[in-house]
Amino acid sequence: MKRLGILLSGRGSNFLAIADAIAEHRLDAEIAVVISNRPDAPGLAAALERGLHAISFPSQGLDREIYDRQLIEGLRAHHVDLICLAGYMRILSGYFIREFPQRILNIHPSLLPAFPGLDAQHQALEHGAKITGCTVHFVDEGLDSGPIIAQTPVPVLDQDTVESLSTRILQEEHRLYSKAIALVLSGNYRIDGRRVISSML
Ligand code: GRF
Repeated sequence: MKRLGILLSGRGSNFLAIADAIAEHRLDAEIAVVISNRPDAPGLAAALERGLHAISFPSQGLDREIYDRQLIEGLRAHHVDLICLAGYMRILSGYFIREFPQRILNIHPSLLPAFPGLDAQHQALEHGAKITGCTVHFVDEGLDSGPIIAQTPVPVLDQDTVESLSTRILQEEHRLYSKAIALVLSGNYRIDGRRVISSML
């Protein structure tokens, strides 16, 4: 059974959607450990409630690489095969990323490369985009810039607010992430330049 390490900082709804997909046999994997850089993250409490290994490594004030070394130890101790960022609000050091080549996934609430970084839904509204969505991608050393695994479009409605748009994108995020994780765990893909090519997509 492939082992997932989840990194989060907040609400944890994507983590819960992954946990549900596993419980409902839509995703063949197990969650080896959930790590939060914020001790008060609701996602951490939810992981503990589900009886998962859940650890908090507070990051405040720590040098990035020193912190990431601690993170790597925690993930290695739980023998993770794949790391899933699920609302992890801290930039990973190059050192961390090089430790797990093509083994780190992220979900982002826009159709990348549009609207990388913070507040992607707000950015889409401000720009007047008619279609936005969500993206699961491999994490590289840039900001939301790694090879794209899967995307779902979401129309922007005239009456949308950041909240209403975020809610509809989030529903799609919850569906997309588990599918993308299943694809990567299956190994049934290849990366050609920036393109992730798979018969499963
Ligand atoms: C999601 O919108 C995700 O795309 C972004 O951060 C948010 C996390 O939400 N990276 P949650 O903590 O999974 O509910």
